[in-house]
Amino acid sequence: MVRIPTNLILRARKKSSLLPLLLKPCKTIDSAEQELRWIQNELPQNQWLKACYLRSNNVPLQYILGSQPFGDLNIKCKKDVLIPRWETEEYTLKLVDQLRSIKESLKIIDICTGTGCIPLLLGSKLKNSSVKGIDVSEKAILLSNENKVLNSIPNVEFRSGDVFDANIVQEKYDIVVSNPPYISADDFKSSSTEISVRLYEPKLALVGGNEFYTALVNNVLLSTDAEGFLFEIGYTHQYKHTRNLLNLNQWNTCLYFDSAGNARAIIGWKKGSKMQILENIR
Ligand SMILES: C[S@@+](CC[C@H](N)C(=O)[O-])C[C@H]1O[C@@H](n2cnc3c(N)ncnc32)[C@H](O)[C@@H]1O
Repeated sequence: MVRIPTNLILRARKKSSLLPLLLKPCKTIDSAEQELRWIQNELPQNQWLKACYLRSNNVPLQYILGSQPFGDLNIKCKKDVLIPRWETEEYTLKLVDQLRSIKESLKIIDICTGTGCIPLLLGSKLKNSSVKGIDVSEKAILLSNENKVLNSIPNVEFRSGDVFDANIVQEKYDIVVSNPPYISADDFKSSSTEISVRLYEPKLALVGGNEFYTALVNNVLLSTDAEGFLFEIGYTHQYKHTRNLLNLNQWNTCLYFDSAGNARAIIGWKKGSKMQILENIR
């Protein structure tokens, strides 16, 4: 457990009696002050103390405030459904920029949709396209439908489904997107996974491995006849594994790095197809 130096606690208390509670999850006064501002701006005053206590027990801020921005959308967040991450938001916006240049209505499918953040952002920016989101968790599907209504996005639909079901999709799609569970069981248990994630976010959304990429390729990509895909990854071996599942006479792939410099996705497109533009995502 991280020990907070007494002088830091005293300095924080001088600014606000609530601030010392936020030092444990936030570590620095600056970031504790930022979180306190969000709590005070977004919650009524009679909930501030409870919110700071929850936060001092490492409950993620998004579950306390009940939402997380994603692009210009406001995504409702609830326990049992993964909180959308900035890395996912970053590549989704880059994907929007490329798909816009195709200038035709596209059919897009997002597997492992969680809050629905990816299809909702794609649907809100690509108004002539239709987007479907699928997740095995009923709680995720309920929440993604709430987020569709909250953000008034008509061209997106959600339904439940299991990526390991060979019949998960019957229709044709142009592109498949997915942020599947990809953290190894060992990393999930170790300190490389933040304590707030380990304690409060759903293990179903986090722990997984190559079996998800195999299922995404065999049960979704190949059966939908899609010409492009973007799958978030956690480790470069997941890139290699996925690439090895493809017929490389037909497919090109690239390893996408996020702006923090981490390998973050495998992107693929059929050679000579309209999805070749995905190679521009950097
Ligand atoms: C890493 S989260 C991604 C959530 C969301 N797309 C995002 O980026 O914030 C993975 C999601 O996969 C779902 N999931 C886990 N196993 C699944 C399966 N077998 N089939 C479909 N979805 C699954 C989880 O419920 C969870 O919502």
